[in-house]
Amino acid sequence: MAEFHKLATEGEVSPGEIHQYTVEDRFVALCNVDGELHAFEDVCTHQFAHLSEGEFTGSEVKCPLHGAKFDVTTGAAKSLPAVKPVPKHEVKVQDGYVYVALNEKRVKLGGRGRRRG
Ligand code: FES
Repeated sequence: MAEFHKLATEGEVSPGEIHQYTVEDRFVALCNVDGELHAFEDVCTHQFAHLSEGEFTGSEVKCPLHGAKFDVTTGAAKSLPAVKPVPKHEVKVQDGYVYVALNEKRVKLGGRGRRRG
């Protein structure tokens, strides 16, 4: 069963806002789309950048580094140069707090053409 971590108080992230948190050494973005909370790994799938530092409009966030857009409700990459989705985390609100269960999938960076040794 997924383990939930307390992330924020209910109402801490208002509609149209996106915040960054750290859970078990992972960067987690929590955003509010018209009152609905969504959490995902706060790392772009193109190169290393925090999506929570980008432009957040409607249900899309734009990477601050090269401008790839992601749908925060699904994690899907909507424009180049990113092609892979960001892992979404499960969110629940209980007794005035927001909890998150981390997705086992993580963003892997630098896979293509990377050499070891
Ligand atoms: S690092 Fe996000 S688009 Fe390049």
